[in-house]
Amino acid sequence: MKYVEFDRSRPMDIVLLGRVAIDFNPAYNDQVKEEFKPLKKVHMFEKFVGGSPANIAVGVTRHGLKAGFIGKVSDDQFGEYVVDYFNEQGIDTTHVTKCTGGQKLGLTFTEMLSPSESSILMYRNCIADLQLSVDDINEDYIKNTKALLISGTSLAESPSREAAIKAMMLAKKNGTVLIFDIDYRAYNWKNKDEISVYYSIIAKEADIIMGSREEFDLTEKLIQPGMTDEQSAAYWHGRNAKIVVIKHGMKGSTAYTCDGQKFSIKPFPVEARKGFGGGDGYGAGFLYGLYNGWELLDCLEFGSAEASMMVRSNNCSDDLPGPDAVRAFIREEKEKYGEMVARV
Ligand SMILES: Nc1ncnc2c1ncn2[C@@H]1O[C@H](COP(=O)(O)OP(=O)(O)O)[C@@H](O)[C@H]1O
Ligand SMILES: [Mg+2]
Repeated sequence: MKYVEFDRSRPMDIVLLGRVAIDFNPAYNDQVKEEFKPLKKVHMFEKFVGGSPANIAVGVTRHGLKAGFIGKVSDDQFGEYVVDYFNEQGIDTTHVTKCTGGQKLGLTFTEMLSPSESSILMYRNCIADLQLSVDDINEDYIKNTKALLISGTSLAESPSREAAIKAMMLAKKNGTVLIFDIDYRAYNWKNKDEISVYYSIIAKEADIIMGSREEFDLTEKLIQPGMTDEQSAAYWHGRNAKIVVIKHGMKGSTAYTCDGQKFSIKPFPVEARKGFGGGDGYGAGFLYGLYNGWELLDCLEFGSAEASMMVRSNNCSDDLPGPDAVRAFIREEKEKYGEMVARV
């Protein structure tokens, strides 16, 4: 069954709004291998485009979807680096603009301690992406895309907060499918009540909500704390959601649909390099399946496979695979571990 209908007449498949940053990851390439170690001991870093919605934009583009980005970058070489990278990938950058007040792109340093232990150190003061303002949101752009994905990080501060809400309102006005990736990053938020206030404004209107259990708990703090996954799904289905995806990291994830069904998937076993980047591969793979009208379980399997491929990688953007590579990965894993390896 199809839970969301995309308007096929629209030229753009998906527009993503929010955070784009630069990741500095401990180098791991043919020349330099920084093995697992504390961040302070790392000597060589590799630079990549990062930030959850930016990574998903790259991911869906590698699958052949036409993506655009709404965001703010710094007026310097790092800002140019991001825009150049997006352009090389084929992502539309007509709505990526430069900050005028000297704000800088966020920098993310990833610590990789072991296959199961990693953390991130973010530099997000005077931050470019949160400078997005209502004037940057153009109705025609939202009218011409099948879906709009809002990353929750964009709600952390004004003026980006109002810009994201405006984009959501225009998506509703124009029948654009609204996807909410809760994408919680602690930086820039002032307190937990604000998180619930603003996350729930978008979540109530979204057709698809994706997030971890912790991210749903933050969203629901002022609604009803302590809900189970089933209760959360029922609550959001009672608003506008058709699909609610709740992730439990290594324990797997479940998509709840508005007809009362649920579909679960587990991660494909891999030797991880880091815990980050999984969610973005998951999002890109899952959305690709949805656009192709696949059964939900196949969308989830594809997303989970892409997530596993990305936690194995040293970055969150540049190694995002095309569809053939994901299919090959699924085939290999099933040959190794059996047909039901990712099934619950
Ligand atoms: N060690 C791992 N091996 C395989 N898959 C993993 C691993 N860690 C995470 N994943 C996958 O990545 C997803 C994480 O998504 P999410 O909770 O959104 O985290 P983030 O957005 O921080 O990457 C999980 O649902 C799972 O599919
Ligand atoms: Mg995530």
